[in-house]
Amino acid sequence: MTNAATERTAAELALGETPSFEELVDRAALAEMVHSFFELFRLPIRVFGEAGQILADASEQPALYAYLHTSGAGRRALADVVTRVKTLDPGRESEAMFQCVTGALYQISSITYDDRQLGRIIVGPYLPPGSGDPPESLTALDPKLDPARLRELLAEMPRGRPETVTQIVRHLTKTLDLILFSGHKAWLTSSMHLASVRESFRDLSDKNAKLQQAFDRLKELDRLKSNFLATVSHELRTPLTSIIGYSEMLSEGIAGDLSPDQREFVLTIHEKGEQLLELIKGLLDLSKLESGTMSLRKADVDVVPVIRDVAQTLTPSARKKNVELQVHADGVLPTVWGDAERLRQVFLNLTENALKFTPDGGTVTLRVLPSYMERPPDDDAGFVLMATRRAAVEVRVEDTGIGIPEPERNRVFDAFYQVDGSSTREHGGTGLGLSIVRRLVDAHDGLVHIEENAPRGAVFVVRLPCRRTTMA
Ligand SMILES: Nc1ncnc2c1ncn2[C@@H]1O[C@H](COP(=O)(O)OP(=O)(O)O)[C@@H](O)[C@H]1O
Ligand SMILES: [Mg+2]
Repeated sequence: MTNAATERTAAELALGETPSFEELVDRAALAEMVHSFFELFRLPIRVFGEAGQILADASEQPALYAYLHTSGAGRRALADVVTRVKTLDPGRESEAMFQCVTGALYQISSITYDDRQLGRIIVGPYLPPGSGDPPESLTALDPKLDPARLRELLAEMPRGRPETVTQIVRHLTKTLDLILFSGHKAWLTSSMHLASVRESFRDLSDKNAKLQQAFDRLKELDRLKSNFLATVSHELRTPLTSIIGYSEMLSEGIAGDLSPDQREFVLTIHEKGEQLLELIKGLLDLSKLESGTMSLRKADVDVVPVIRDVAQTLTPSARKKNVELQVHADGVLPTVWGDAERLRQVFLNLTENALKFTPDGGTVTLRVLPSYMERPPDDDAGFVLMATRRAAVEVRVEDTGIGIPEPERNRVFDAFYQVDGSSTREHGGTGLGLSIVRRLVDAHDGLVHIEENAPRGAVFVVRLPCRRTTMA
């Protein structure tokens, strides 16, 4: 669509353009009308458009004309008649009559609508009643033409009184006028509709372009943010390593004995330094995962030892909170295709959360079970037509804590998102853990989602696919 076309308003478009006869009147309806006229009056009739193109035709060549065509002079005379009739302009809203060499008449009326001449109606040739003898103009044409034959054929010509024909044609023009009027109405409506559709299309394209711009800008900002995170965390790490190292040496008395207070303060520096380091590592991991530069060292991994190790690591903090930490892993389980260290990180994060959000006296259960996953369509070079399922391992981290309301379950995987985002919230943390979990699970072609744990608490379900074995 060109701009010029779209910039026109609906009104301009509908009023500024003038439709042609053919746009206003249905061709088939016009043909129908012309044919019923012919059936009724037996008079030849033709309708022409403004450029002289024929739009409807209900006429047969009279036998007389066919006979005249057998003579050279006759042919020439008839050709002359045709051009004269075609070029005769009856002028605005008026009629003209033309008499042919045979004495036959042509009635020509112009079709005007809205002050414009749209075309012409031509009725004829026909003879007025009574005239029996071939006129002089006809008999003098060519001596080879047989006068008796001419008289005979002349008698077969359609007949009509010129005044009656004029009346009939006037009626016809009026009817056409009505048809043109309703055609014009329909045309206006449809062009207005078209114009308004174009208008809203333009509106939508504009909005689309703006959205695309905003989207590009956001993407660029997101990239800058990731870069920033990567640089800053990297730069923070180096001095932090010194702080941790020196505070550790101080607490061990390497630089001289410390008083109990001094020792306690230095230990706090050390502990907070470690916390800070964890945070920075998280940021680095996230930016690596976002930019796709994290490299995974994949191998066949037995998940159960990974889970037992996670449980062991967290048992002290579970005890401290008086939360029971259980592991259930029965039956034969396949190995999954993954990076054991990264998988450990996934389940450490999930279990830490479970412990954090479960109050005194609660239970956190790690469950490992065999499962399966739909094989993605572009997986392997095998038969993708057959729906194959890939063996998988499911790990469930169940707690009896505060749970996560349904509308929040997808959002908690966003970086920095926390259900309780207030500064006065009860539990510490940065909101990075789950976003790292999701990205790591993604990088293993796995899936993670949250379910409710009846009667209370949350269940994080992670499914990780195995390497090659498929199940029917
Ligand atoms: N087991 C859970 N029970 C209840 N809420 C949870 C649980 N795990 C995560 N959440 C919610 O998801 C948020 C994001 O978790 P996470 O990304 O690990 O960040 P953080 O632990 O640093 O707050 C948490 O702040 C908490 O609101
Ligand atoms: Mg967390």
